[in-house]
Amino acid sequence: MATTLKGRDVIAIGGLTKDEIELVLAQAARFEERCQEARELDLLPGRVLATLFYEPSTRTRLSFETAMHRLGGDVISVAEGARSSSVAKGETLADATRVVSSYADVIVQRHPAVGSAQEAASGATVPVINGGDGVGEHPTQALLDLYTIERERGTLNGLRIGLVGDLKHGRTVHSLSRALSHWKPVLTFVSPPALAMPAEISEELRKQEVTVNETDDLAAAMRQCDVLYVTRIQKERFADPAEYDRLKGSYILDRALVERTNPELTIMHPLPRVNEIAADVDSLAGAAYFRQAANGVWTRMAILALVLGEQL
Ligand code: NCD
Repeated sequence: MATTLKGRDVIAIGGLTKDEIELVLAQAARFEERCQEARELDLLPGRVLATLFYEPSTRTRLSFETAMHRLGGDVISVAEGARSSSVAKGETLADATRVVSSYADVIVQRHPAVGSAQEAASGATVPVINGGDGVGEHPTQALLDLYTIERERGTLNGLRIGLVGDLKHGRTVHSLSRALSHWKPVLTFVSPPALAMPAEISEELRKQEVTVNETDDLAAAMRQCDVLYVTRIQKERFADPAEYDRLKGSYILDRALVERTNPELTIMHPLPRVNEIAADVDSLAGAAYFRQAANGVWTRMAILALVLGEQL
């Protein structure tokens, strides 16, 4: 069993071994338990987190910030990344994180370009955590998704998991499907052909002996899954607004569909949702997406503590 992630960057989920992922999940469970008794722990006093967000975010930034506050640390941030930071003046990401490394002990960055987290890490002298690099990866979301699946289903092993929506542009599903490969799932990718999972990711998964099915039939997939992970059509990634309009209503999950196909289904979504899950789904026992968002805090507490060499 891995015992620390001290000094490590978290850029892509593939950068963590199964053991290291299990360490994060085990720590997250301890943080969740501890936070029921005490809202603030004194684990990282005097340590500073810098959040550098060059793309919109609510959950990721606020859950990292609240995680740091609950660990007894402090937070500095560039409020509107792109507009108010010196990167807007033409500074490279590597220079920006090099400078921020002298103010902060750990950095979380979100940026619209694939590879931007790696670029930031190349300049930084403190751990850099990828809070989303364009259509690339979102590894901390994958960790909180694993944590949620384990909590909701009691195991990660051998589950039948459907991923639906914009699998082409969705960084959450890129990271999550790779993360799940350690537990030998049966994955069913549901999307219109134009938004299919990139072939390189499907091939990578098949090489790891993951069963991968691809379909555009949501109801059929729901009948055969334990967990359905729903994603938003990623409007901001479309060059052609007409193409977005054509695809935006592709899949809409409502209560009647869940009750007709599989009332036992665990339903997840990284949020924000637009119209892909109707509000009447929210009160179903299997609707896990708001619990999933809450789990982001424990998981991010675990990640911050571990990369700073601490744990519970
Ligand atoms: C996701 C993201 O930013 O990739 N949101 C999140 O981090 N919870 C999903 C999305 O924006 O659709």
